Amino acid sequence: MIRQLENVFVLETAASSYVFRVLESGHLEHLYFGRKVTIRTADDAELLFPTRAFLPGNAAAYSAEYPALSMERLCQEVSGLGKGDYSSPFVDVIHGDGSRTCDFRFAAAATGKAAPGEAGDAGALGPDDLPASDGLPHSWSGDSGEEPDCLTVMLADEEQQMRLQITWYVYSDCDVITRTVKIYNDSDEEVRLQALMSLQLDIPMRGTADRGMVFTTFTGGWGREMQRNDLPVISGRYVSESLLGASSSRANPFCMLRDADSTEDHGNVYGFNLIYSGNHRESVECGGERIRFMSGIHPQGFEWQLASGECFCAPEAVLSFSGDGMNGLSQNMHGFVREHILRGPWAKKPRPVLLNSWEACYMDISERKLLRLARAAKEAGIEMLVMDDGWFGKRNDDTCSLGDWTPDKSKLPGGIKRLCDKVNAFGLDFGIWVEPEMVNVDSDLYRAHPDWTLEIPGHPHSEGRTQRFLDLSRPEVVDHLIGAMSDVFGCANIQYVKWDMNRNFTDVFSAALPAERQGEVAHRYMLGLYRLMKTLTEKFPQILFEGCASGGNRTDLGILCYFQQIWGSDNTDALCRAEIQNGYSYGYPLSVIGAHVSDVPNHQTLRYTPLSSRYAVASFGLLGYECNLADMAKEEREAIMKQVAFYKEWRDVYFSGRFYRGRRFAGTLGGMGTGAAACGAEDAPGDTMEWTVVARDHSRAVGFIMQKLSLPNLPEQYYLPKGLDPTRRYHFTNTQEKHNIKVFGSLVNTISPVHIKQDSIAHGLIAKFKKLDGEREEVTAYGDAMMAAGIRLHPAYAGTGMDENVRLFRDFYARLYFMESVESEKVEE
Ligand code: DGJ
Repeated sequence: MIRQLENVFVLETAASSYVFRVLESGHLEHLYFGRKVTIRTADDAELLFPTRAFLPGNAAAYSAEYPALSMERLCQEVSGLGKGDYSSPFVDVIHGDGSRTCDFRFAAAATGKAAPGEAGDAGALGPDDLPASDGLPHSWSGDSGEEPDCLTVMLADEEQQMRLQITWYVYSDCDVITRTVKIYNDSDEEVRLQALMSLQLDIPMRGTADRGMVFTTFTGGWGREMQRNDLPVISGRYVSESLLGASSSRANPFCMLRDADSTEDHGNVYGFNLIYSGNHRESVECGGERIRFMSGIHPQGFEWQLASGECFCAPEAVLSFSGDGMNGLSQNMHGFVREHILRGPWAKKPRPVLLNSWEACYMDISERKLLRLARAAKEAGIEMLVMDDGWFGKRNDDTCSLGDWTPDKSKLPGGIKRLCDKVNAFGLDFGIWVEPEMVNVDSDLYRAHPDWTLEIPGHPHSEGRTQRFLDLSRPEVVDHLIGAMSDVFGCANIQYVKWDMNRNFTDVFSAALPAERQGEVAHRYMLGLYRLMKTLTEKFPQILFEGCASGGNRTDLGILCYFQQIWGSDNTDALCRAEIQNGYSYGYPLSVIGAHVSDVPNHQTLRYTPLSSRYAVASFGLLGYECNLADMAKEEREAIMKQVAFYKEWRDVYFSGRFYRGRRFAGTLGGMGTGAAACGAEDAPGDTMEWTVVARDHSRAVGFIMQKLSLPNLPEQYYLPKGLDPTRRYHFTNTQEKHNIKVFGSLVNTISPVHIKQDSIAHGLIAKFKKLDGEREEVTAYGDAMMAAGIRLHPAYAGTGMDENVRLFRDFYARLYFMESVESEKVEE
């Protein structure tokens, strides 16, 4: 719902209100964003108006007409430059005469689906015609077809003859507001745009000074994506940013600004994201009267020439408020991604369990090896085989062949088609890996088109993984890739594509653009990439696309507008993965994050974690296997068969349910939890990770706990579910495990009548036939009791004996719990 009450605008979602007004000076003053408040008339909003009686000290006055107006103290919707606001500007333009002042003031507003001025009638807000998207990915109305309420305000800088159009979309169902911004050059001269950010949220210090705020960012690197950092906002500027050319694993565009006393389930939290995959910056500035959050395309290295009559559109920004802590905020973001970002036939369809060839074979693949894997996969109940890197050109290592997308006949004598047909004949779907944006210097494509890459002609190039970026800012390169990829995707019954991207920008330069336009290359690359993804995903709607960038180096809402899932990290170590997935869950539903069970020792950490833990963690994402199933011991293959069968029974709950974080461990990957203790956060890092996912109708739920390091004689442990229906009775149980006696080492002699030498043949033989029953958890109780009191688990092993009443819970052990409601016993209020 959007109301215009004289000069006040009120945007309402189901649980939040966003309020701003047009000042007499014409500036947009931000007044409030938070828990829903009642504002029915302009008078109701007066409470939110600050009183400006005088200008303190050396503050600059906006004008002689408004002597008490200081831009430095004003909470604004968009800030300019040169009029006394000394924080980062929202928009920064170098005008024809070299001056930089810009001052945008109200010109017109329209609500509904019509935008004012030249933006014209936005028409139906379907996936492809939201106004002002200009080749950028954007949110959409969703399956319900119910268009979001929309408000467009046109601002004008009459001195400089420029206009700025801001459009807000209100997605009430998930408590999310999005905003797009477009700048028009109406002057006769060319101007140079230095920055056009997407989102600005100025929060008056009045409400926050006494309780403080925390800027929560998600940073990391390869193999350690989405590590949560809590930075207490004291004074100055705090930045989370990527200049890698991709949204990157270094700093995800999703972040939060929250009250210092907020926790997972309590307190005020703002969440922000960008529908963009390139360089970005999120900043928090604290000083004087306000805390300013800003996000958008990173201004560093960016410059856009705007000729007379041209316009430029910034990526759509996403913001949300929850008064119910970080879990509440995550629910909003999850709903938004599911309903208003994902699209296409796969958006709401549970995903197949797949076996990926990468860690089983790396590039040493062949039809024979892949069919061996397919056979083992079929036996395990797996539904798809994915052929990863190594199938094309002369690709035996990463120094050659990217760009030459024809199968290597020595590996695939019958091409992709014959392999795919054979895999299909086993009853499995078939998927393939590509890395379309890249080229190796050692490739036919590079030899034919050496000017098609991002590099500075005549100067040495800093490569990543011995490969270069194709210059997607050039339309002919994008057209070539549409052709090349269409040939691959259309040559067989391909049901899934893993779209990889394995390096970061260096020496960014396009041979197709003049010197003065080189600041446009990085963003033009993104626009080219989006055209490529849009064309191919529309042409092959039956294909499930998984984005990947050395793992999670490009996990963002821009990618998710085209691809329905993303490979979360190359790190498949269960302990690390639990942290990474926990990090993703703050801003993204785990139903878009690919997660695989891999071999031990793990290929990234060399750590041994039990198969059951690897499965438990991966089952909360989109389950796949990435190991040599064909070589695995029978016992393990049988265990995997059971896992897959179990997963299929619960897949709907995982895929469509509501996900809640409980307690969490931290520190495994570094950088996580920085400042959490300093902030006094209730959820400061511990030793246990705890999750619950609950079916939308509350009939079933899956719980998870994982322990980092075990200690003997711990206090009684419990599992604390969230999100259950308090009035329903649930039957709680676990999967009873069988333990290998070898984990007890020489302790076997405490029960054996004859002495057994540890790790001897005899030890192995006994282990083969004698398994120990794990604990059986079983209780039936009401949801309210389970959530308030927790479920008391069997005591963990503490060196004093082992039977089915003892919970064997070693380092890196995890457990899954299952809750099913006993319908007939629902409490009637
Ligand atoms: C990086 C990806 O993240 C891996 O899963 C794998 O596909 C390799 N690239 C292949 O080169």
